[in-house]
Amino acid sequence: MGKVHIIDHPLIQHKITYIRDKNTGTKEFRELVDEVATLMAFEITRDMPLKEIEVETPVSKATSKVLAGKKIGIVPILRAGIGMVDGILKLIPAAKVGHVGLYRDPETLLPVEYYLKLPSDIQDRFFIIVDPMLATGGTAVEAIHSLKKRGAKQMKLMCLIAAPEGIKAIQDAHPDVDIYVAGVDERLNEKGYIVPGLGDAGDRLFGTK
Ligand code: URA
Repeated sequence: MGKVHIIDHPLIQHKITYIRDKNTGTKEFRELVDEVATLMAFEITRDMPLKEIEVETPVSKATSKVLAGKKIGIVPILRAGIGMVDGILKLIPAAKVGHVGLYRDPETLLPVEYYLKLPSDIQDRFFIIVDPMLATGGTAVEAIHSLKKRGAKQMKLMCLIAAPEGIKAIQDAHPDVDIYVAGVDERLNEKGYIVPGLGDAGDRLFGTK
């Protein structure tokens, strides 16, 4: 079963509180999401493999470490996931960025892929799929399916806030995918919003209603 990593660093927890606050306006909300994404990227990359190489410092030769594993791909789930991309790119500037868009079919209520664009070297990349809110998990489950169908082999899911229902959905459907979140909230309400959550992440990021 995929592990759930709750990133409880004080800086992240502090910023999440202001992200939750309904009085936080669009500009500040966007900045905070960006900052939390950077801090979470630090944790999500903690187990990246290293190899030793030789370098020459101004003083002597040295053996030192560089990243050795797969290159990174970031895949935001449209639209709110976009708000987390730049924050991750600050730490991993060479990462390639794909996009996946899904909508919920009004009759079947199932998520349907309407947009997908991924880097061409899918099999050689480690993907970080990002969406601020893991609510029912339906969209994230389908987004992960979309990547796997195209040959993606390794990935992690990074969200700001999750509901227990969403975590269970990912663990059931994709036991190979670890989840990184800043908080796990109580539940979903009847409209599918996370309680207490932060409202509609997309609307708050982009200033729409
Ligand atoms: N999507 C959001 O933006 N907010 C929620 O609470 C649930 C899903």
